[in-house]
Amino acid sequence: MNGPNLGHLGKRQPEIYGHQSMEDLPDLARQVLGAAMDSITLEFYQSNCEGAMINRLEKAWKTGVHGVALNAGAYTHTSLALADCLAWIKIPTVEVHLSNIWARPEPIRHQSFIGARVVGVIAGFGLLSYALALQALYQHLHHPSA
Ligand code: DQA
Repeated sequence: MNGPNLGHLGKRQPEIYGHQSMEDLPDLARQVLGAAMDSITLEFYQSNCEGAMINRLEKAWKTGVHGVALNAGAYTHTSLALADCLAWIKIPTVEVHLSNIWARPEPIRHQSFIGARVVGVIAGFGLLSYALALQALYQHLHHPSA
């Protein structure tokens, strides 16, 4: 799930966010996850609207989605509402960032409202962050004690 300003990946400030687009993710995920990809159904969702993201997360809860890789974009740093949603739907979620938010110059990017409500965080690897998040989710769901 991608939040605001993440609908044109590859075009937006590629010096920060990379040149790859979300269309490149399935291939990259297969490189990282290998045959495990055969047992995964991936759904993509992107919205620039906080409420629409919450609606989609509630729908994921209703339909029994097993895990979420979430790049909430700037809402990461501002949205108590998204954090509140993750707190009750309790779908295992990995927070994803293309850039290493702690290495960014703006101090507000160093804090995450959702960080306390996720299994873990992967940041700084461009599009690979998403593939690594899927791998982490897969391991977490199949080998929870590892
Ligand atoms: C981002 C980092 C955020 O600070 C920023 O607002 C984004 C993208 C990332 O993927 O690096 O929109 O989440």
